[in-house]
Parts: sequence; structure tokens; C-alpha cells
Amino acid sequence: MKKYLNIALPKGRLGDKAYDLFERAGLGCPSIKEGGRKLIFENEENLVRYFWAKPSDVAIYVERGAADIGVCGRDILLEYRPDIYELLDLGIGRCRMAVAAPKGFKYDPGVTLKVATKFSRIAQDYYASLGRDIDIIHLNGSIEIAPILGLSDVIVDIVETGTTLKENDLEVVEEIIPISARLIANKVNYNFKNGQIRALADRLAALQEEA
Ligand code: PRP
Repeated sequence: MKKYLNIALPKGRLGDKAYDLFERAGLGCPSIKEGGRKLIFENEENLVRYFWAKPSDVAIYVERGAADIGVCGRDILLEYRPDIYELLDLGIGRCRMAVAAPKGFKYDPGVTLKVATKFSRIAQDYYASLGRDIDIIHLNGSIEIAPILGLSDVIVDIVETGTTLKENDLEVVEEIIPISARLIANKVNYNFKNGQIRALADRLAALQEEA
């Protein structure tokens, strides 16, 4: 007997785009478009249950099996390294992880670099790969103000359009890694619901080829 497929979507613009892809792949759930503050939506016909989670929490729901599958940025996967299967690059939510600094910044190898970021592990790994000594300052948002206020020398953050950097007189000084959204699955539930999950992943992959 087929069971409900539980899908964690990241709340916000990326989640809306991801839902549109799932709908095109045949897993529509019209009530999700009703707005309001509701967070869980079901469609009995398709046996699908969607819920909106904070983007950085999607991987937690999937890792622990509260969601069978989910949509999660590569940045979150690299930062938190959840024990999940990564099934597909969905090709949405494209951006890059980069080092940015105030215009005219010059790196001085003789001084420990102060790096502000939400992505401490990605920053640590990146600078370790270069053999550079750094001091990480972990922040939770509005990272761009850190170098302006003298809290850090540079930031490691996501750059999408580049508008936030530009409007705060910062510029990219090094590219770290390209980012996009991934379809992820719980390892146990992937086996239990293999037919449903594989069929969906294949339809999503086919949609990308059509595009
Ligand atoms: C993200 C990121 C940058 C911004 C980049 O922040 O941390 O600040 O988007 O986008 P852009 O290149 O298109 O300007 P988010 O909106 O998630 O908010 P936050 O500052 O609270 O992390």
C-alpha cells in the first residue's frame, strides 16, 4: 500500500520555486497556495504532505525521518553535513559562496584574518585548504555590516544578485563554491518508499532536460 510522501520545503522564495517544480512533476497540492499562516498541507489524491520549514532546518527533518525528502541548499549540506542522500541538483536557487571585503581591501599574510560568517565550517575548510590562519566570528545574519563596523576584515557569505554587497560598498574578493538547491532524502525512508521517491526524482530530472 502506498503511503503519504512527506516533503520538507524551505520557507521563502526558494521553497515557492521548489513547490512549482513538484507540482509540474505531478505532486500538486492546491491548498498550499491559499496563503495564511498554515504550515502543513496535504493532498489525499496524490498522497503528498508538504510542510514549510526554516531553510536550515529542512535537512534536520529529513535526516531524522520526519520528512522523507526535502529541498535544501548546497550551502546547508556543506555546513551541517547531514547524514542524508543527495538525489538531484534541482538547478534552482543558484548563487555562490564567496569571500567579500570592503572595496580596496588588501590581504596581509602577516596578520590573522578576521572572518565573519553564518557558514563557519565552510569558511574554516576553505581557509584551511589555503593554509591561512583565521579568526572566525560566527554571526546569524546581516553579515555585510561586520567589516563596515570593524568587527571583521572580510565576510564569507552567499552572493546571489550581488545587490547586498554593492549597496554596502563591499566586493567579492574570492569565489569559494557554486551553490544550488538539492533534492535530499532520508536514508531509511528512501528504501521504504523507493518507488514513489525514485519516480518523483526521475520526473524532476526530466523536467530539467525539457527546460
Ligand atoms: C542572503 C545573504 C546575503 C544576501 C545575498 O541573506 O546572506 O546577505 O542574501 O543576496 P544578493 O546577492 O542577491 O543581494 P538573507 O536574505 O538570507 O538574509 P540574512 O542577512 O539575514 O542572512
